[in-house]
Amino acid sequence: MLDRPTITSPKLDTPLRRGPHKPHLLSVEDAKAMPVATMAELFKDHINPGQFHFMKLLGFHKVKVERAEGMYYFDQNGRKILDFFGGFGSLAFGHNHPRIVEARQRFQDEKRHEIAIAFLSQYAAALAKNLAVCAPGDLDMVFLGSSGSEVMEAAIKVAERASGRRNCKIVHAENSFHGKTKGVLSITDSPLYKGEFRLVDNTVKVPFGDLEALTRAVESDPDIGVVVLETVQGGAGIIEAPAEYWQGVRALCDRHKVLWVADEVQCGYGRTGRLFAFEHYGVVPDVTALAKSFGGGKAAIGAMIARREVYMKAYGTSKTAMIHAHATFGGIGEACVTAIEALNTLYDEDLIGNSEVVGAYLKDRLVALEEKYPSIIKEVRGRGLMIGLEFHDFSRTLPLALRPMVAMLDDKLKGSLSGFIGALLLRDYDILVAFTEYNRNVIRLEPPLVCTEENVDTFCDALDDLLSRGIVSIVRDFVKSQMG
Ligand SMILES: Cc1ncc(COP(=O)(O)O)c(C=O)c1O
Repeated sequence: MLDRPTITSPKLDTPLRRGPHKPHLLSVEDAKAMPVATMAELFKDHINPGQFHFMKLLGFHKVKVERAEGMYYFDQNGRKILDFFGGFGSLAFGHNHPRIVEARQRFQDEKRHEIAIAFLSQYAAALAKNLAVCAPGDLDMVFLGSSGSEVMEAAIKVAERASGRRNCKIVHAENSFHGKTKGVLSITDSPLYKGEFRLVDNTVKVPFGDLEALTRAVESDPDIGVVVLETVQGGAGIIEAPAEYWQGVRALCDRHKVLWVADEVQCGYGRTGRLFAFEHYGVVPDVTALAKSFGGGKAAIGAMIARREVYMKAYGTSKTAMIHAHATFGGIGEACVTAIEALNTLYDEDLIGNSEVVGAYLKDRLVALEEKYPSIIKEVRGRGLMIGLEFHDFSRTLPLALRPMVAMLDDKLKGSLSGFIGALLLRDYDILVAFTEYNRNVIRLEPPLVCTEENVDTFCDALDDLLSRGIVSIVRDFVKSQMG
């Protein structure tokens, strides 16, 4: 029997005169007190039954988070879970950073205004100024939105208009991920996500990091007006391109008056040891976008930042100004205040420097594990606290005795050691990690930028201990956990 809380309607002192009676609604207190089994049933009934299936495979469905602080989640059983997933890079400050929480609290206590459509917003103005100060070159015009997808939509629209081409085509990379709304889905290289949707068809795909291929594409088609690239590909499995590639992209775009959009939604905001990952290469794009950690782990906010010349070309007149002005919730008060406090904190606590130093330590320790377990770990890559740990595809090397066991598992898990390792890291070591969208053999490590070397030691010691069991035991342990 489903263990649902019993909800009773509050007694009304005065009878309602008109309008519908209040239905049986759950309260915030009901939500907080909800047993884990009810939570699971409601997720399956009303949110996404298929996704629940994957969460169950990994054992994630047993956790009800009661509290989250710094590097840790605390569950209903008082278990403390070390977060090396970091919400795909959304938690630069860890969970509930006190300074950010306090700024939000003050904003509420002072009854500040949220929606600023009619009047100007001092908070949006300050945030935009801060971004213009931090971003290199003349990247100083800002559009605020509520998600990475929304600000990337804004990025491709401003670039398309500013390119001056009537039939502007947009280049994107193989294995790209730019979001799931329809415009950016058109430049996201996933047949699964794209499915049968009717998308924008003015796109051209090139291999990531291949300057010759990009040059050929741009030189052969004068309609190409925009090039969109993640500076570090996240969903593809943490893939970087060398400095010469980025310098070549900049020069090529300048030569052909093509606009370069750098998607920094995941790799930006200090994650790689620079505010923007493109700063490692000494080049500046025409348009860029931040989201995820930009909201301090507390607010849904992202920013598109364009060079002033680009922005003015697209929307600089009174006739064009409203073509892509912010949406209802774009740059609302508390989200902006959160982002202002977060950006100040990022510098005051030198979290970008910490990302570089602790990230290098993490990479060194993982490389040592790669040398210790060469038949399990294929490669360690990335920089700062954006690290990909790729395992060998063991589906063909698995001992014969184990193959029937693995054959019973879900398709998603068959060749993927990272699924087994992720599930066992949570079950046996209280550590949370995640995978990359397109390469299921890669564990994506994007812990909060407040991560310490001690946290890295905890993670690496656990991984070492787990890998020392050997593939056969890891697979057997995982399969057994699925039977239980
Ligand atoms: C590089 C990149 N761009 C865009 C997005 C879309 O962001 P959101 O999920 O906030 O819409 C993501 C999300 O993972 C991303 O990694």
